[in-house]
Amino acid sequence: MKILFIGDVVGAPGREMVQEYLPKLKEKHRPNMTIINGENAAAGKGITEKIYKQFLEWGAQVITMGNHMWDKKEIFEFIDEAKYMLRPANFPKGTPGKGLIFVNLNGVEVAVINLQGRTFLPAIDDPFTALDELIREAKKRTNIIFVDFHAEATSEKQALGWYADGRVSTVVGTHTHTQTADERILPGGTAYITDTGMTGPYDGILGVEREAVLKRFLTSMPVRFEIPKEGRKQLNGFIVTVDPKSGKASKAERILINDDHPYFG
Ligand SMILES: [Fe+2]
Repeated sequence: MKILFIGDVVGAPGREMVQEYLPKLKEKHRPNMTIINGENAAAGKGITEKIYKQFLEWGAQVITMGNHMWDKKEIFEFIDEAKYMLRPANFPKGTPGKGLIFVNLNGVEVAVINLQGRTFLPAIDDPFTALDELIREAKKRTNIIFVDFHAEATSEKQALGWYADGRVSTVVGTHTHTQTADERILPGGTAYITDTGMTGPYDGILGVEREAVLKRFLTSMPVRFEIPKEGRKQLNGFIVTVDPKSGKASKAERILINDDHPYFG
């Protein structure tokens, strides 16, 4: 069984890349399931109902999120109906939404978990102990468990990867928008990558217009971050092959599509 993951989709350029390349990637890799991190999908911050539905229409089964979860106010109006959207599971108790979902693929169940780190990000509940509880819950139904750990620090992501090794099928890191080249299968059978990278503008800074980011660094003045409307784009992702019975991963591949790494179908 193959699971395709598309890294943080940023604004319209990111969505355009998903629309263009998701059918091609499906044709080439034949994944049984596609997961998209959509926390930056609406102009870089948050997600709208329209975009959420578009991702499902284009062929994603689950949308994961992160620290920009609540940035679009309309999220509170549709989150209860958004069956296939996850928010980090370690947000405080009573937070709307859910952090674990089961998807049934022709009788085979896959559990998807979303967690968020605490290093250089707002203080929320402990993702490590939250993961223990979620694994217990998921294992009642399936061995195939996919984790999107939305976190800033590479150390925290590596730590969670090792902590989960042998207990889940995959841990992918998201949030830093820069793909790391450390994809591997950990000794216990968990596929791991520190960050899957970003899908969106290729010539911005982490997907944001360069001018504003540079002004902030040069002057420390408050600036408004915009997503470039024109220019080159990229798609970053990850694909994992998992044994459906044991839940162990056997292959972990990065996906990197941009002008410096052209796509060959
Ligand atoms: Fe983020």
